[in-house]
Amino acid sequence: MDVEKFFDEYARNYVIQKRYKTLWYKWLVDTILKEIGNKVSRVLDLGSGDGFLAIKLAKKIKNGFIFGIDIASNMVLEARRKQKKERINNIIFWKKRIEDLNRGMKFDAIVANLVIDKIKNKRQLLKRIYKCLKNNGKLVIGLCFKPSKNYLRSITVLRKKNEVMAKKFDDDYLKWKKKFRKKPFIFYSKEHPKSYKIEPLKLKKLMASVGFQKIRIISSYNPEIAVIVGIKSS
Ligand SMILES: C[S@@+](CC[C@H](N)C(=O)[O-])C[C@H]1O[C@@H](n2cnc3c(N)ncnc32)[C@H](O)[C@@H]1O
Repeated sequence: MDVEKFFDEYARNYVIQKRYKTLWYKWLVDTILKEIGNKVSRVLDLGSGDGFLAIKLAKKIKNGFIFGIDIASNMVLEARRKQKKERINNIIFWKKRIEDLNRGMKFDAIVANLVIDKIKNKRQLLKRIYKCLKNNGKLVIGLCFKPSKNYLRSITVLRKKNEVMAKKFDDDYLKWKKKFRKKPFIFYSKEHPKSYKIEPLKLKKLMASVGFQKIRIISSYNPEIAVIVGIKSS
């Protein structure tokens, strides 16, 4: 099934998934919000889904404006419904493919949470994102990936520092995955569009190759979840 059709159908089940209550998703959203801060004036949310992150950003960045784009009409409708319910005025949600970003618009920050793995040609996408950022603009990517041995080695110290928390993250993630592997929830069905997962160390190299600087990988206790940040500096 193609990405657009899948997420159009999935939009209806999105809330049932309750990932907003999990440690791993909360960590992703909180880390992204912290990286963006509240001083920016224009933020673009790529693959904005049901608007959860964009609405959080809009509440925090009271003097700024959030633009959310998503390929799936039903996701856009769901996001607009939530925006209306919460009476938020500083967001606009559009139906648009990330691949069709044009350099005409410039942003202080661009976020992409759990969507980069849906895009095959990441270098081309990163080049487009780079062009859409203002100087000193920030890209913040929330990633879900299969960790390599190298990556696992790199987070051993973090996990050892707080083994209790690392275990909490592992248990929470496994419990969530197990629960939603069951039918009729379609997220893990054969219908799921192909993923092009990339791990942080590789993504970091790609980001550097298109010009990003000061690239940081922020690891979580969960070895499959991380945030990557890069700056466009002139
Ligand atoms: C896993 S969801 C993540 C949604 C949201 N960012 C979040 O954190 O909850 C991925 C979203 O990306 C959207 N998406 C996938 N490929 C896309 C593309 N090429 N252009 C725009 N949106 C896309 C899907 O429709 C879906 O809403």
